[in-house]
Amino acid sequence: MFVSLFLITSCQKNITVPDTSAYVPTASDVTKTATLAQLSQGRSLYVNNCGRCHGLPSPDSYSASNWNIILGNMIPRTQMSASDAALVSKYVRRGN
Ligand code: HEC
Repeated sequence: MFVSLFLITSCQKNITVPDTSAYVPTASDVTKTATLAQLSQGRSLYVNNCGRCHGLPSPDSYSASNWNIILGNMIPRTQMSASDAALVSKYVRRGN
C-alpha cells in the first residue's frame, strides 16, 4: 500500500505541466504581418514546445532582434516544423 502510494507520488513529479501563464495576445497585438489567430497559435506552440526545458520568458523580455538570435539557437532544440517556428516567432516578437 505504502509502496504503491510512493510510486504514484513520485511519478506525478515527472509530469511536466505546461506553463499557461504566458502572455495571451489580444486584438491590439495584431500587425500587418500577424493575425490574432496566428499569434494565439504561436502562443500555444511556444507553451507546448519551449516550456519543456525551462520557464517561458514573456515576449517583452527581449527585443525583436534578440528574439531572432535566441530562436536561431532554440528552435533546433525542438521538433518544430518551419511553419510552426514562424508562428512562435510572430508571437514572441509581438507580430514583428
Ligand atoms: C531541449 C531543451 C530546450 C528547448 C526545447 C528550448 N530551450 Fe531555450 N534554453 C535551453 C537551455 C539549456 C538554455 C540555456 C542557454 C543555452 O544553453 O543556450 C536556454 C535558454 C533560453 C533563453 C534564455 C536566453 C538568454 O540568452 O538569456 C530563452 C529566451 C529561451 N531559451 C527560449 C526558448 C524558446 C523560445 C524555445 C522554443 C522555440 C526554447 N527555448 C526551447 C534549452 C531549451
